[in-house]
Amino acid sequence: MTPVFQRPVEKAIPGEDRQPEPGIRMPRISVEGVSKIYRSKKWEFTALDRIDLTVEEGEFVSLLGPSGSGKSTLLRLIAGLEPPTEGRIRVDGRTVKGPGADRGMVFQRYTLFPWLTVEQNIAFGLRLRGESRAKRREVVEHYLRKIGLEAFRSAYPKALSGGMQQRVAIARALANRPSVLLMDEPFGALDPITKGQMQEMLVQLWEQEGTTVIFVTHDVEEAIFLSQRIVIMAANPGRIIAEVRVPFGRSRGYDLRDTEAFLHLKRQIVRRLEPVMAEK
Ligand SMILES: Nc1ncnc2c1ncn2[C@@H]1O[C@H](COP(=O)(O)OP(=O)(O)OP(=O)(O)O)[C@@H](O)[C@H]1O
Ligand SMILES: [Mg+2]
Repeated sequence: MTPVFQRPVEKAIPGEDRQPEPGIRMPRISVEGVSKIYRSKKWEFTALDRIDLTVEEGEFVSLLGPSGSGKSTLLRLIAGLEPPTEGRIRVDGRTVKGPGADRGMVFQRYTLFPWLTVEQNIAFGLRLRGESRAKRREVVEHYLRKIGLEAFRSAYPKALSGGMQQRVAIARALANRPSVLLMDEPFGALDPITKGQMQEMLVQLWEQEGTTVIFVTHDVEEAIFLSQRIVIMAANPGRIIAEVRVPFGRSRGYDLRDTEAFLHLKRQIVRRLEPVMAEK
């Protein structure tokens, strides 16, 4: 297999906010010359340095890089939780100006509402939007089935394991039918077996629902197993140093990890990451 590193990919579409025109495909997400600089009176720190990235509809992209490379910062900017210092981010052609229901977020730490049951957590966004009880029930049933937690519908989060809580958090995010799912090391705190099961579930969900996913991780195997494309980042300043296309199809089973092609790609990525890990 030949090396697969590439960069830059497509240039973002210039111009003002655009609505999708019939027959013209536009990226679901475009990050255009985005920098994030944190400043105080005494110091200045470039967390992200001129990031350009486009993500297509239905694509699964991972951000992979050492601690401090700006992965979470980039995700927060796309989520609209913070503004970029320079540049602009567009989702479906519209400039991101704050959080929105079009972008669902799942964090590493379990963020379910502890006072709501599993079903109420999943239905939270739908309720906020004023969806009917029948509609809420239909959506909740759909996702309870997908995450295999029908028996726990009335349980409160504290009665669930970490893996179960994360399944509910993913269902809660997907129930809003976001066009983009942003995930920041969602399985980072799980044991390896549960983590593997969650990854398989996520691949299946992504395949069935067609959601666009940006997934942050510093686990090389996780990035390869899940993604179609891996964006490799480095720190000081946070920047993109390479992109890798992952040549495996959508339906992926756990055994993929044992294949020569998988291990070959893993070695290539590790070799690319080693110097930037040592930089810190
Ligand atoms: N609010 C802030 N004020 C100052 N510096 C910040 C702030 N948020 C992030 N940073 C800095 O920006 C850099 C990137 O942080 P970020 O959390 O995005 O890294 P990361 O790639 O997600 O790392 P990790 O793998 O450890 O989660 C870090 O050096 C961090 O200290
Ligand atoms: Mg982070």
